[in-house]
Amino acid sequence: MLIKDVIQNIKSYCKGTWNGTVITDEKTRDKVLYGDTDKECTGIVTTIYASTNVIRKAHELGANLIIAHEALFWNRGDHREWLEESQNKTYLAKKKMLDDYGITVWRFHDYIHSGIPVGDDYIDGIFYGIAKLTGWDKAIISSDVSGAIYLECETTTPREVGKLLKEKWHLSGLKCIGNMDAKVNKIMVCGHVSEGGDSNSLIKKVDENNINLLLPLELIDFTLSEYIKDSGQLGYDRAIIAAGHFNLEEPGMEYMVNWIDDALKTHIKTDFVQAGDMYTYM
Ligand SMILES: [Fe+2]
Ligand SMILES: [Fe+2]
Repeated sequence: MLIKDVIQNIKSYCKGTWNGTVITDEKTRDKVLYGDTDKECTGIVTTIYASTNVIRKAHELGANLIIAHEALFWNRGDHREWLEESQNKTYLAKKKMLDDYGITVWRFHDYIHSGIPVGDDYIDGIFYGIAKLTGWDKAIISSDVSGAIYLECETTTPREVGKLLKEKWHLSGLKCIGNMDAKVNKIMVCGHVSEGGDSNSLIKKVDENNINLLLPLELIDFTLSEYIKDSGQLGYDRAIIAAGHFNLEEPGMEYMVNWIDDALKTHIKTDFVQAGDMYTYM
């Protein structure tokens, strides 16, 4: 199958609408970020981010298509003029590696978040994959307009959840804040806590809904982190486990290996290659 047909089949398999609006080629982030699509696909690698090591590994596996959830060259929109102008050395070396190995990179973000078929419905393919691989698929209870996902579980502790995440998500460490022995029943996967100004509405939500454990995508020290630190020190059942944005979403790309044949209506060898753990801990 040609790479362009692989891409088209995967797009068609997904729901393809966001809040009722159809995802269009002009507006979507899901672009071919690198390489040619008019050639036969020799194999596929799925990952969160096509890091240099992922590219090397794809070549070793005989794959010429990397399906990555995030951008390739370190900015929203994957703009490269500034890298060409400044002749950025890391950019040139990474580009040369893609050229030498003849690898095509397609970003698969909006379509997978729009939904993959599950039963008679569509569910966000990233969060469905995370839930399946973590053993939480029965625990999903709700989501809200901010994209937050709420889980209700049997009583556990942040320490126990941390152990589970390290094992299932293949991580070497986690950043934790708050009361690690808290009683946890309510978990919230929240979005990007990356604004230094305030997280007042999120903090209100946590307080009003008695959320015990937060799993943020991005997390800064300001606002939510400070609030959870104070809450934990006061003995409340509150904690944060910040695995990191890519570490958290990557299991969704790992799970894709389970459904890609259904999308392609044929078998193409597909391997998941973990780009994370983003962090090295000392
Ligand atoms: Fe995502
Ligand atoms: Fe993301």
